[in-house]
Amino acid sequence: MFEALQPRPNDAIMELMQKCKADEREHKIDLGVGVYKDASGQTVILKSVKLAEEMWGREETTKTYVGTTGNQDYCADMLALMLGADHPAISEGRIGASQTAGGSGALRLGAELLKVVAPEATVWASTPTWANHIPLISEAGLRMGSYPYYNRETLGVDFEDMLDYLDKNAKRGDIVLLHGCCHNPTGADLSPEEWDRLAPFMLERGLFPYIDLAYFGLGRGMAEDTYGLRKMIEVHPEVLLAASCSKNFALYRERTGLIAAITKSAEKAQIAQSQFGAIQRKLISMPPDHGAAIVTRILRDENLRGIWESELDDMRERMRGLRQLLSEALDVQGGEAMSRAVKDQNGMFSTLPLSPAQAERLRSEHAIYMMNSGRMNIAGANASNIPRLAEAILDVL
Ligand SMILES: Cc1ncc(COP(=O)(O)O)c(C=O)c1O
Repeated sequence: MFEALQPRPNDAIMELMQKCKADEREHKIDLGVGVYKDASGQTVILKSVKLAEEMWGREETTKTYVGTTGNQDYCADMLALMLGADHPAISEGRIGASQTAGGSGALRLGAELLKVVAPEATVWASTPTWANHIPLISEAGLRMGSYPYYNRETLGVDFEDMLDYLDKNAKRGDIVLLHGCCHNPTGADLSPEEWDRLAPFMLERGLFPYIDLAYFGLGRGMAEDTYGLRKMIEVHPEVLLAASCSKNFALYRERTGLIAAITKSAEKAQIAQSQFGAIQRKLISMPPDHGAAIVTRILRDENLRGIWESELDDMRERMRGLRQLLSEALDVQGGEAMSRAVKDQNGMFSTLPLSPAQAERLRSEHAIYMMNSGRMNIAGANASNIPRLAEAILDVL
């Protein structure tokens, strides 16, 4: 059976992790893997999560299945968190949602639904985008294309090029995949003014918004990070949303995500929800319970919610602080564009204008690990090694 099986090429991020692990230099800096780390380099379990788990451990009475669309209290709480509890789409019952196995499970489930309703559509993704977007969506059977997004010289978003490209290349009924905030891998987000222009632009051209919100709360704040999503829902009668609790609740391995279809009527929302259930049933049958149960507990308990909000603020502010420090350290001749960009960008990632050879020099000469594309996870640094990081970046330029 397995005679003809060939090894797959190594995953670039896994390879980088292995190289970093094998490096015995004590001063190494790991800016590779996409998880949040605290100042001591640890990805800790949040206190709010630990407390919720203790309570849940005492109260949980069964391990029976959660159903194909998962925990609906969790879905309602997540939607209220992202949109505000009094959002009209919620009060009018116009959202059909399902719990999913992480944001990745949500992206796949959303793509499978799109395949049912728009099998001929192209899904347009930014250049660059999170590497896993492509297999998660294209393996649902949808065609994919890419629109210009990040300019590696200005280190900002090429918004006019993006609009121009979509105008010329996307056809009515196509889908535009958008990072709601904290763009991975660049950290370069659309400004509120750009969302304000993009939403009606897409509506006029019949382009459908599919929003990936994997880092909300970790960019500038809950309201700022959900602005684009809310703008799209205000302008478009229908939107698809894939969200994740992996980063903002640090629940990575608990695989906690959400897919939601904002529809024109309560009736259509129910249909979309039943489709999510039927599709999830044939993919993984039912989502895991634990992460969603913990999120719901946190969001419904005033004390736990307060603790989580302050932990989320700490994670975000630590990254903003590191960005500020790195920006100051890079603000010398030759580093000005990077200095501006790392300060303005959001979330864990920035993509620096480095070649693979320069990224390799960072590894071999400075024990600094980032992707060959120049993508770095700022949370892997700390206040004491930022000066050395800036010096090394300027050295290899
Ligand atoms: C842009 C983006 N979307 C979605 C995800 C999915 O995350 P998860 O499946 O771990 O919840 C990630 C994870 O890195 C991401 O970067």
